[in-house]
Amino acid sequence: MSSIWTLYFSPTGSTKTIIDTIGGVVSGMLETEEPIVVDFTQPHMREKKLTFAEEDIVFVGVPTYAGRVPNKIMPFIAENLAGNGAYAVPVVTYGNRSFDDSLAELADLLEGNGFRLLGGGAFPCQHAFAENLATGRPDMMDVLQALQLGEAVANHLASGTVLKAEAFPGNHPAGPYYVPKGTDGQPAKFLKAKPVTDQEKCTQCGICAKACPMGSIDPAEKFEATGICIKCQACIKKCPVDAKHFDDEAFLSHRQMLMDNFGTIRKEVTLVI
Ligand SMILES: Cc1cc2nc3c(=O)[nH]c(=O)nc-3n(C[C@H](O)[C@H](O)[C@H](O)COP(=O)(O)O)c2cc1C
Repeated sequence: MSSIWTLYFSPTGSTKTIIDTIGGVVSGMLETEEPIVVDFTQPHMREKKLTFAEEDIVFVGVPTYAGRVPNKIMPFIAENLAGNGAYAVPVVTYGNRSFDDSLAELADLLEGNGFRLLGGGAFPCQHAFAENLATGRPDMMDVLQALQLGEAVANHLASGTVLKAEAFPGNHPAGPYYVPKGTDGQPAKFLKAKPVTDQEKCTQCGICAKACPMGSIDPAEKFEATGICIKCQACIKKCPVDAKHFDDEAFLSHRQMLMDNFGTIRKEVTLVI
């Protein structure tokens, strides 16, 4: 009997929504138990090794960061997920610019770990950096696409169809990370930028520290980010009193460039089925 697994890294929640939807559809169609959920957004969840069985179906979702699988998360996928012939469905989300090579990279990683691929997709979702990029997505149309992917996956299972990783759009192996640009078209260098905390607003509730996927926010330092920051925006979005923001000029210029160039277009879902 198949077990359905839903695995995701989702600091601001969109990837979780997409994976939950697809996993739920397939689980319903195959009349399995509820999916087994592994949310590997938090660091302690990435210490575990997961070994799957041949009949398992594993949905794996990550957001696109700089056109690739997030670089701090890639080692967990490469080293801690043992396929053993289980089926996998790689899924990426992206914030209306492009998913570039993230889907291809995720498919390559999973196939390389001994998974058999049943299909996958790239879903435009609200960009973590700015409200007007893919606003309101995933929406009903996206959910319909997620349902279509779920149906295709169930059909492939029934017919024994397995896809090659090279069928997933993008470079194999993945190319270099996307270099963010500012409004002047020049590279925007904000690797070291961190959110700043308005200490007058901060109530020291600690939600930001729990939300940070890098475990970088220190209660002893008035909830400032003392460790590495991947710019995921989890602490900013989850703060109940809006006490955090980025004031780094290069970051803000990149955000403005994205809004200027990708704010008004509707990108469509890409399905590999
Ligand atoms: C650090 C970072 C880099 C990103 N890079 C890209 C990108 O290259 N292309 C794109 O279209 N969206 C990009 N995005 C947007 C995310 O892919 C999008 O917001 C995603 O749906 C967030 O997933 P989550 O809600 O599950 O955290 C980036 C977001 C962050 C935080």
